[in-house]
Amino acid sequence: MAKVSIIGAGQTGATTALWLAQREIADIVLVDIVEGKAQGKSLDMTEAMPVIGSDVRVIGSNSYDKTAGSDIVVITAGLSRKPGMSRDDLLDTNGGIVRSVISESLEASPGAIFIILTNPLDAMSYLAMKVSGLSRERVIGQAGILDSTRMRSFVALELGVSVHNVHCYVLGGHGDDMVPLTRHSNVAGVPLIDALPPDRLEAIVERTRKGGGEIVGLLKTGSAYYAPAAALAQMVEAILLDRNLIIPASVYLQGEYGQSDICFGVPAKLGRGGFKEIIEYDLNQAEQQALERSASHVRELIGALNL
Ligand code: APR
Repeated sequence: MAKVSIIGAGQTGATTALWLAQREIADIVLVDIVEGKAQGKSLDMTEAMPVIGSDVRVIGSNSYDKTAGSDIVVITAGLSRKPGMSRDDLLDTNGGIVRSVISESLEASPGAIFIILTNPLDAMSYLAMKVSGLSRERVIGQAGILDSTRMRSFVALELGVSVHNVHCYVLGGHGDDMVPLTRHSNVAGVPLIDALPPDRLEAIVERTRKGGGEIVGLLKTGSAYYAPAAALAQMVEAILLDRNLIIPASVYLQGEYGQSDICFGVPAKLGRGGFKEIIEYDLNQAEQQALERSASHVRELIGALNL
């Protein structure tokens, strides 16, 4: 059985463990800094397995020895935002956490692939790349799949169609200037720009951009975790089962989309070994400019990391 470690047994980490345990594709180790938290949640999950009918092991720990030899390490450790905060406000605190978590996880699992969730996502993925010194295929940030599933859910609700029929692609940084690509998104093959009137489409694009903030505003004490965790579980599955699944993800660019030395959301093919390929869409001028705006924002954050 493959082994997946999830660092941070908070809302997103624990929910990811549950989605994954249900898939029965890996044993899971949860690690948290808070005494007993990972152990309590993993014991509770273990006790659910007979009902779910899944023969995976879920264990919790405060240290990294149990994570040794992981195939994939998912990093969800860090603070989440509260109302009035942007993801960027988390940079300093979460930067320190991600730095130490990467070093310790890598020591225990030198062959692992890393999936990053901690915000601000693109800057944390970049930090993980630099601190780990790994090849870019093995460090992948989760963002675009979440932003895209948010958009898909809004379109499906608006049109009253199955979520299976809705395909959306949101590129760029994981912030309010992300780039939902309406020309490349479609409903059962019909481009979104033909499936929805312009004002409804614009409203959905705007709601997608602010999707994380909408949930922070409602929850008041934390941020979204069901959809982020579902997105993480799908990425883990794509890698472990070598699915060659194309999804938007934050990866280190070396000239693709005109960008270099940045982690940024673009369509990437996930399978064995991490991401195998970056798919370059044909973008018009407005789309390219929107991506550049988003990239310059991510670059500001990366600069503030003082690496
Ligand atoms: N090592 C291990 N775990 C840590 C560390 C650390 N150094 N620092 C914090 N944690 C743990 C916390 O104890 C907590 O259990 O990380 C967990 C984070 O969980 P939550 O507070 O529930 O936050 P969550 O909603 O899961 O979000 C986690 O993902 O989406 C992003 O912005 C979000 O950066 C945040 C992260």
